[in-house]
Amino acid sequence: MNLLTNPIQLLQPGTVEFGPGTIDKLGPWAKAKGYQRIFVISGAFNANRVSKLHLGGEIGLFGSVKPEPDADNLADAVAAAARFSPDLIIGFGGGSAMDIAKLVAVLCNGHQSLSDIVGPDKVTGRRIGLAQIPTTAGTGSEVGTRALVTDPATQNKWAVQSQFLLADIAIIDPDLTMSIPASITAETGVDALAHCVEAYTSVKAHPIMDVFALEGIRLIGKYLAAAVQNGNDGEARAGLALASMYGGICLGPVNTAGGHAVAYPLGTRHHISHGAANAVIFPHVLAYNAPYAEHKTAAVLRALGLDSSPKSENVSRQAYRYCEALGIEMRLLNRNVPESDLENMAREAFAIKRLIDNNPRPLSHDAILQIYRAAY
Ligand SMILES: NC(=O)c1ccc[n+]([C@@H]2O[C@H](COP(=O)([O-])OP(=O)(O)OC[C@H]3O[C@@H](n4cnc5c(N)ncnc54)[C@H](O)[C@@H]3O)[C@@H](O)[C@H]2O)c1
Ligand SMILES: [Fe+2]
Repeated sequence: MNLLTNPIQLLQPGTVEFGPGTIDKLGPWAKAKGYQRIFVISGAFNANRVSKLHLGGEIGLFGSVKPEPDADNLADAVAAAARFSPDLIIGFGGGSAMDIAKLVAVLCNGHQSLSDIVGPDKVTGRRIGLAQIPTTAGTGSEVGTRALVTDPATQNKWAVQSQFLLADIAIIDPDLTMSIPASITAETGVDALAHCVEAYTSVKAHPIMDVFALEGIRLIGKYLAAAVQNGNDGEARAGLALASMYGGICLGPVNTAGGHAVAYPLGTRHHISHGAANAVIFPHVLAYNAPYAEHKTAAVLRALGLDSSPKSENVSRQAYRYCEALGIEMRLLNRNVPESDLENMAREAFAIKRLIDNNPRPLSHDAILQIYRAAY
């Protein structure tokens, strides 16, 4: 853990544009690259403001990406894109739209199907361009190699990972996030926080990533509450967009750990949003891990501006109050999760070995159940 002598590979989009107003760079970039047939992928909110992208050429749109999309939603997007035959795909939205855009870019005119590409390094190539425009500050998907889609039969998340899912350009214009309501600002912000914290404390943590992770946590500590209070605070929105990007950078070579694994069943089984699920779980996993990562847990609390004693009770109290003060409902009971399902949820979370194995403290089925009980 955390050895400079551990080899690590960093993959980034070809170009990253960051800052207010950078959305204006998209049209000229697409033109300079010679793209003629541009297909935008978004949810309903962003489908109504595609004009903000100032695109030339033939424009197609799939504007019905659902939050936490499933494979059926993806299939509809792939079919719509295949009919349009684009040379550039643009993901315009939160993680849901950007993940669908990644998958459409490799599936819509290729020879592979979704089942061929689930898992690491199964995608054989991508022939069309991919641009990502985040409009939430949470997932960091715009700079990442991963896409998540729900299996409608089991409600589990399939993860596809490939260098071919990496965007040719990511344009991170924080002004596009001003319209996010306070509740989604809070939840997506805690998702970014969880990416940074889980990467920072992971068994796969690496000194290169620690720099991004710790700075991401500090930015969340400085700006998340301010953006929740005033969505038009441009500096706070920019701080969160950067934290989200840093979280996304961490996801590539290090990825998340127990927190995300334990959070997933809340989304898949009980339709709690990805960010809210992570928030509910966050204090309990941080406290559970504290004895195995004392120094780093203290650094996380310090970076958030909280009392940094790494004693488990203090860790959970501080982190819980932090999330609660953002207006997030932190009790599973109040989120209509039946107590009788905690056992099933623990079984499902424990099966997500790709993440459970990254946790700094071993996570048994019983330990996960205890975490759900603590969050109940
Ligand atoms: N690829 C990755 O590395 C990665 C990492 C974390 C999460 N994810 C995935 O991302 C998805 C969650 O993404 P998310 O948290 O960004 O939420 P989301 O994309 O589902 O968006 C949440 C809601 O906010 C709306 N919205 C988006 N931008 C808005 C804006 N500017 N103003 C007002 N409303 C806006 C959307 O239409 C949607 O209803 C999940 O499916 C999760 O599994 C992917
Ligand atoms: Fe996440």
